[in-house]
Amino acid sequence: MKSIVIYSKTGNTLHVAKRLIQKENIPLLQVVPEVDDPNLAHPVLKDRPQLYAFDHVIIGSPVHGFSLAKVMQVYLMQTDFTGKTIDLFVTHFFPFAWMGGNRTLSQMKSMIEAQGGRVRFMTSINWKNRNRENDIENLILRYTA
Ligand SMILES: Cc1cc2nc3c(=O)[nH]c(=O)nc-3n(C[C@H](O)[C@H](O)[C@H](O)COP(=O)(O)O)c2cc1C
Repeated sequence: MKSIVIYSKTGNTLHVAKRLIQKENIPLLQVVPEVDDPNLAHPVLKDRPQLYAFDHVIIGSPVHGFSLAKVMQVYLMQTDFTGKTIDLFVTHFFPFAWMGGNRTLSQMKSMIEAQGGRVRFMTSINWKNRNRENDIENLILRYTA
């Protein structure tokens, strides 16, 4: 069974997740911190989605400070991905993927593999790019195939 788990501070990552579940009717679960402050080095999670029921999970997060948002870092560290297939995406704002998107995807992949998961697809969506809509459509086609 498949699900989507995201953290979204300002709604962009949530927007992509909602588009995905319009195409494929699967549960959308959100990681929620007690205090949503990107400056917190060790945020405490209020909602930490459990993945026992799922063998395939799409995980999405924003890039914060050229890196994975701390809230998602904490979630990945606290989650066992053994035996699960994971597709990743990040949303970011700066114009080039090398300004955070690619690095953040690599960071997510390493963390998930360290917790036993197998990462399949990885996509970076640049919110400022004029091809954003195409990039989101391609992501949806690929991740729901
Ligand atoms: C605290 C903070 C730090 C950010 N740092 C970066 C960054 O390093 N690189 C980048 O491309 N975008 C950065 N952004 C922009 C977000 O990654 C981008 O707007 C993203 O789509 C937001 O996703 P969300 O609406 O799901 O929270 C930052 C945003 C915030 C709030």
